[in-house]
Amino acid sequence: MNLTLPELETSIDGADFSAAATLRPRPEPGLSRAALRALEAAFNQPFLLVDVECGDLNYAAPHGLVCDFYSRLAVIQEVASRGVPEVIEEESPLSMIAVPLRQLEQGPTLAAVGLILTTSVANEAEIASAARLFGIDARRAFEWSQRNEAWNPRVALHLAESTVENIRQRTKLAHLEHEITEAVGHARDSCVELGLLHRLARGLDVSQGPDDLWRSAVAWLAEAVPAQCIVAVARRDAEGIQSALFGDNGPAELYFGEYPVEPRALCDMMERVGAAARRSLVMNRAHTSAPTWDFPTIRELASVPVLQGTRLEGWLLAINHAGADGDEFCEFGTAEIRLLESVSTILGVHRHNTHLFARQGDLFAASVRALTSAIDAKDPYTHGHSERVARVAVCIAQELDLDKELLDTIYLGGLLHDIGKIGIDDNILKKAGPLTPEEHDHIKRHPQLGYDILRGVTQLQKILPIVLHHHESWDGSGYPHGLKAEATPLVARIAAVADAFDAMSSDRPYRRGMADEQLDEVIRAGAGRQWDPNVVDAFFACRDQIRRAAHDQLIGAVPIDPLRWID
Ligand SMILES: [Fe+2]
Ligand SMILES: [Fe+2]
Repeated sequence: MNLTLPELETSIDGADFSAAATLRPRPEPGLSRAALRALEAAFNQPFLLVDVECGDLNYAAPHGLVCDFYSRLAVIQEVASRGVPEVIEEESPLSMIAVPLRQLEQGPTLAAVGLILTTSVANEAEIASAARLFGIDARRAFEWSQRNEAWNPRVALHLAESTVENIRQRTKLAHLEHEITEAVGHARDSCVELGLLHRLARGLDVSQGPDDLWRSAVAWLAEAVPAQCIVAVARRDAEGIQSALFGDNGPAELYFGEYPVEPRALCDMMERVGAAARRSLVMNRAHTSAPTWDFPTIRELASVPVLQGTRLEGWLLAINHAGADGDEFCEFGTAEIRLLESVSTILGVHRHNTHLFARQGDLFAASVRALTSAIDAKDPYTHGHSERVARVAVCIAQELDLDKELLDTIYLGGLLHDIGKIGIDDNILKKAGPLTPEEHDHIKRHPQLGYDILRGVTQLQKILPIVLHHHESWDGSGYPHGLKAEATPLVARIAAVADAFDAMSSDRPYRRGMADEQLDEVIRAGAGRQWDPNVVDAFFACRDQIRRAAHDQLIGAVPIDPLRWID
């Protein structure tokens, strides 16, 4: 590996995009020269191309008549400022004309200067005086006159003007054509980019694992970027990203297309590039043809970093331009880098959001567990009650064929249904014996207390009915509101059966838990009086499952799915 930083300094700012530029036509250079050629063709004789500002002769045809234009430079400058062809000086049978060529292209102001024959010449004497005036040899002038036709000066000026105007229009057309081609190219690039971003945006659900989005991104980039291979490379030390994408011992690269080198070679290469790989890079043939380039199968390479905040997670690479319109010598440029950068930005932001979301979910689950522990700590005689009620209630709810969202609500509601006991007097809660009516009334306050504790928590709104109504009775004799039958929400009617089941089956300091047969008898007898008969039926339909759920070890409790609770 002989990569050196100076080679890789060819970033998006300094990259050689000449090859990419050749994909689109540019206006032909030297339009003034083209106008000069057009004038020479129209008049069938050479003209001089004069730099009006400094008086230099810009161009003269090899065998033309080089007349003395310099002594008439002031007049030529005036003609150039007026912008239309004029006769500068005439001495029969010759006239000198100047044709301004400004506005044809950027650069010095130029004018075409030449002599035209205004009458036919029979012998050298007829042209000798005019030849002297214009600084040319009389003999050459006579010979020249014999090869050229005579012009009416006004016709000659019109011809010169229309010739230059024709070139000007063609120039404008060429520019317009170039601009249209550029605009179409940009529109096509933008359309591809927008399409790609739209597809990625639809996959931005933070609940989706990073591997799904990265795989989709690589596949979609392969459709949009003309490359033989698109590769996502994860850094080895990027926390979790490699294992998230490829498994703990998997490859560090994810690709679409023809992978051009040994596995992991690209990861090694990008790691060795170092700081320069934190920017977008383009390496085309000017770099990859160097003897120091160690990857002969990589002709072109475009690379952009994937950053989570300031942390480098990996790279997106496009390798070997696949050619366009039959041109096999295309190279990567700004269009490809833009696409890669757009996608890498989204991957980085998604990774960041996923990370934040996971931390928020952990915090939520830990908070719920902490509250559950607080309830258990408050009433140690009922240790594990909340978790068991949650599990039993979920068994019943599954038997009633409720959907996943309701199951989650019931589980979380089961965990927190007695949260109001935090506000109940310890002496009453821990009393080892039957309660007085006053003490019983005090304990009956816990559903309302629980409701008041949780009602300000947006994510827990759905479990409030369980917290408030899990002590209501089917016949209306329950508390706190004395709701009858289906006036009590279903989730609370389910929690009520689960709650009663666990309370009766658990030991207390002053009594043993009921035997299964006795407990079943009590619940059966309470159907239609204390509890919803349908819920009781569901209870007995999954009685064995409930027994297992209630008696399972509570360590390794059912994980709380934060996705249901965090918006
Ligand atoms: Fe309760
Ligand atoms: Fe309870």
